Amino acid sequence: MQIILNSPLDMHVHLRDNDMLKVVAPLTSKTFAWALVMPNLVPPIKTLEDVVSYKKRVLDETWNDIFTPYMTVFFSEELTFEILKQLKSEILSVKLYPEWVTTNSQGWAKNILSPRNLEIFANMETLWIPLSIHWETSDFVLDREKNFISIYEELATRFPKLKIIAEHITTKELAETLDKFENLYATITVHHLLITLNDLAWWMLKPHLFCKPIAKRDEDREALLKLALSWNSKVMLWTDSAPHPIHKKECSGCAAWVFTSPIALQLLTELFEENNSLNNLQKFISDNAVRIYNLKPNQKQIILEKKDFIIPEKYWEVVPFKAWENLKWSIIN
Ligand code: DOR
Ligand code: ZN
Repeated sequence: MQIILNSPLDMHVHLRDNDMLKVVAPLTSKTFAWALVMPNLVPPIKTLEDVVSYKKRVLDETWNDIFTPYMTVFFSEELTFEILKQLKSEILSVKLYPEWVTTNSQGWAKNILSPRNLEIFANMETLWIPLSIHWETSDFVLDREKNFISIYEELATRFPKLKIIAEHITTKELAETLDKFENLYATITVHHLLITLNDLAWWMLKPHLFCKPIAKRDEDREALLKLALSWNSKVMLWTDSAPHPIHKKECSGCAAWVFTSPIALQLLTELFEENNSLNNLQKFISDNAVRIYNLKPNQKQIILEKKDFIIPEKYWEVVPFKAWENLKWSIIN
């Protein structure tokens, strides 16, 4: 039995730089036709020059005859109207990280609704540049995502034409908010469809499942799964695959995130099949994003066959999600 997926799109991936880029960029570009590349490097991708040169480094490491990287720029107070205008043709969205919520977000957007930030959002709205947000406050860890909803309501009311994408949503509350606002979209990661906080901290801590936002309760996972499996047109896949070398995960002060990009499509096919929803997979992994971001499809077919695939123990120094486990579907091209 085979399944063909057309132009899979990973709408949020961390490709890093240097040695890590050399390892993970080929993996993403083999499996996906396009990807939206995150800017949280050290230092972050903040200017037009940063974007152009990072894109070149990404292209140098990818199978670029069949892969398009779309770029993002790090939200900062320096984004004037002129700079945004120049950036528009080089980026797909501006990525906002509230301060202290995740990897390399130290010292960034402190007060999201500050007068300067509101000016920038207004300029983005005028220029039709979408805003991608790491959707967390810095409150108690389990409440961070739902406490961000009130900030969103303020943004949505002030900027009704600004497309806002809530990244890697993890709660029932946010899943339920999506349909209340026309300009609110969301992405869901593969691992948040599969794990809860119990998987991460049942009796021993599993560092390779630690990510931000942290996986929540089973009822939250169920709500996300319902969205992904349905015909909901507001959700897109993003792996948010974010590699960290093993010594940064298996240590005190474990870095946040899960590495999934080389196994995401296989896992999703299995999950959609188990839930009798294979017909909706194409929409989740590509079609919704094409419409939301107005993209011109670059044709690439990925063929999956029902045949066992054992997830490797490591990709270079990176331990993937579900290392050593057996998947029911393999990519054969
Ligand atoms: O856990 C996370 N790690 N969440 C993010 O949003 C960023 C990522 C990273 O870059 O490591
Ligand atoms: Zn991310």
